[in-house]
Amino acid sequence: MSILERPGPDAGRLRARLAAGQRPYVTLKAAATLDGKIATRGGESRWITGEAARDLGRRLRAAHDGVLVGIGTVLADDPQLTLRGAAAGPEPARIVLDSRCRIAPGARCLAPDGARRIVVAGAQAAPERIARLEAAGVTVLRAESARPEPAWYLPRLLGLGLGSLLVEGGGQVHANLIAQQVADELFLFLAGKVMGDAEAPGWCATLSGSGRLADVPRLRLDAAAMVGADVLVHGCFETG
Ligand SMILES: NC(=O)c1ccc[n+]([C@@H]2O[C@H](COP(=O)([O-])OP(=O)(O)OC[C@H]3O[C@@H](n4cnc5c(N)ncnc54)[C@H](OP(=O)(O)O)[C@@H]3O)[C@@H](O)[C@H]2O)c1
Repeated sequence: MSILERPGPDAGRLRARLAAGQRPYVTLKAAATLDGKIATRGGESRWITGEAARDLGRRLRAAHDGVLVGIGTVLADDPQLTLRGAAAGPEPARIVLDSRCRIAPGARCLAPDGARRIVVAGAQAAPERIARLEAAGVTVLRAESARPEPAWYLPRLLGLGLGSLLVEGGGQVHANLIAQQVADELFLFLAGKVMGDAEAPGWCATLSGSGRLADVPRLRLDAAAMVGADVLVHGCFETG
């Protein structure tokens, strides 16, 4: 069955990841221009890709236990991160990486609709902000470090029963997961647009490298398909 008919994690790799028991399976998803940009320098990102790609993205959510984003994405876009009827089944948990608990309790992804809502904070998050979120039914995980790193938060999310995560950005979160070698799979939707502009964020532009081609993270690409007017590139990270 093609990746378009049943979008979701690679079954064999997911099984192996869950058997290892250390962390959830991590799928990255981004919608970018052909030059890898996910928003304008001013933060405009709606919409880079078309309705068919966005619908497939919502079905991808249904195939994961949780949807994770960084606070930069929440502050810029206020996304709902819900299925919105695109697929049957329970809403996946919604998780925000937010070191200082800057998220507003009224953020759309924290709406109390029955889905589990989790904020992953850092050591310096103000106790009153944490208490306010908890009073609204949000689970707050507080790391010992200023910024929660994957080695800290991924095992804890697995401990909460989340065996698979769809990471929807932004670029800093994607870059961090790739750098830490804990990204398993990628769904990259590419629109027929070219943004240019060094100031515009890329889907993993903050990933720093050694400057040697031999050292760059690699994926085994296994599909490229039209989704409406956009192209979906799919592959699995070799280091995941
Ligand atoms: N086209 C697309 O597919 C798409 C998808 C999503 C977002 N976007 C766009 O991307 C932009 C936002 O991306 P962004 O890169 O600025 O923000 P981001 O990746 O959404 O969030 C980054 C922030 O998350 C927090 N964070 C906490 N722990 C982290 C960790 N371990 N690794 C990385 N970040 C961590 C940090 O802030 P604190 O330390 O303060 O907590 C960091 O500044 C927006 O313009 C949005 O529209 C586009």
